[in-house]
Amino acid sequence: MIQKNSSNISRSGTVKWQSPSNIALIKYWGKHGIQLPHNPSLSITLRESLTTTEIEYEVKQKTDGLSLEFFFEGKPAKDFETRVLNFLSKQLDRYPFLVQAHLKINSSNTFPHSSGIASSASAFSALAMCVLSISEAVTGNKKPEQDFYQDASELGRLGSGSASRSVYGDYVVWGVHPDYPQYSDNYAVAVATSIDPIFNNYHDAILIVSEEKKKTGSSAGHALMERHPFAKARYEQANWNLALMHRVLETGDLDQFIEIVENEALSLHGLMMSSNPGYLLMEHHTMLIIEKIRNFRSETKIPVCFTLDAGPNVHLLYPYQYRQQVLQLINSELLPLCDNNRWIDDGIGNGPVQIS
Ligand code: PMV
Repeated sequence: MIQKNSSNISRSGTVKWQSPSNIALIKYWGKHGIQLPHNPSLSITLRESLTTTEIEYEVKQKTDGLSLEFFFEGKPAKDFETRVLNFLSKQLDRYPFLVQAHLKINSSNTFPHSSGIASSASAFSALAMCVLSISEAVTGNKKPEQDFYQDASELGRLGSGSASRSVYGDYVVWGVHPDYPQYSDNYAVAVATSIDPIFNNYHDAILIVSEEKKKTGSSAGHALMERHPFAKARYEQANWNLALMHRVLETGDLDQFIEIVENEALSLHGLMMSSNPGYLLMEHHTMLIIEKIRNFRSETKIPVCFTLDAGPNVHLLYPYQYRQQVLQLINSELLPLCDNNRWIDDGIGNGPVQIS
C-alpha cells in the first residue's frame, strides 16, 4: 500500500517482493574490484527456494541519514541489519532518497539460512527489487521494464554476486565472455541461446546433508582465489565450459550437460580444497550421495546429475519425464543420507514476483 501526495510521488508506503535463489551450473568463484566476477557464470533460477522481503518505507523531510530495522522471520536480526545498512549506505549516489529514508525490513525464507543454499542470492535480489520499487514510488519515475530488471540485477550484484542472476527466471548468465557481447560483468541477462525443450522443466532435488552454518563463507572463498595457483586456468575453464554449455542448451545434449555440470561442481570444491588455507565443505554423506547418483545413472541410463554450491548439500538435477524413477531413488537411497530426511523438491522457476 502506497500513500501518495501530489502527482505520482509517495513519501511512505510498503513494497513486497518474493525472489528465488538460483543454482549455478557454471560457477562464479573469484572476484575483483567492486563485486566483479573473474569469469562468467550460468545458473538456473529456482522455483521453491524463495526469500520474501517486505519494506515499509518513510522518506523524511530532513536529510539525517539512512536508518533501518531488520526483522528475519519476525524477529529482530542485528547481524542482517548491520550488513544491509552497510550495503545500502554505499548506494546513496545511485538511490539518493535513501539518505532521508527509514526502512522497516521484514524478510523470510522458505529454506534454511546458511546451509549452502544460496540464501544471499534470493535475499539480495528481493532487497534490490524492493529498493527499485521504492525508488520509483518516491521519485515518480517509472523505468522501462528492461531497465528496472537490469538495475535490480546490478544492485543485487553489489550485495552478493550470485544475486545478480536471481532477478530473472530460467537460464541466466552473469559476466563477460568473448563470444557473447551482450553479457556484462555489471549485471546478469537471460542466456543468449534458444533452449531445447528437454531443459524447459528441469528439476532440482536439493538433498540437505547438513543445515549447519558454513565454516568458510563465500567472501572468504572468493578472496582465496586471489593467490590461488590454479586461478588463471580456472577462469579459462569456466569460459570454455560456458561456451560449451550454450551449445548443449541449444541441442539438448544431456551427456555433455552432465559432464559439464559435474565438472563445474567438483572444480569449485577442488579450488576450495587446494586454496591456502584449503578447506573442505563436502561431508561424508555428500560423497555417498554423489556415488549413488552416478551408480543410478550408469545402471538405469537415466540422465540424472549433481551439482554443489559452496556447502555440503547436493542438488540432484533431472528432466521432469524421469520424475517417478528419481523419486524412488530419493526415497529409497538418498533420504537416509540427508539430515532428518530433509530435501527440497525444487526446479526451474520464473523469477521474482511483486506481491505489493
Ligand atoms: O554470491 P556469492 O558471493 O555468495 O558467491 C556465490 C558463489 C557460488 O554460489 C559458490 C557459485 C555461484 O556462481 O553461485
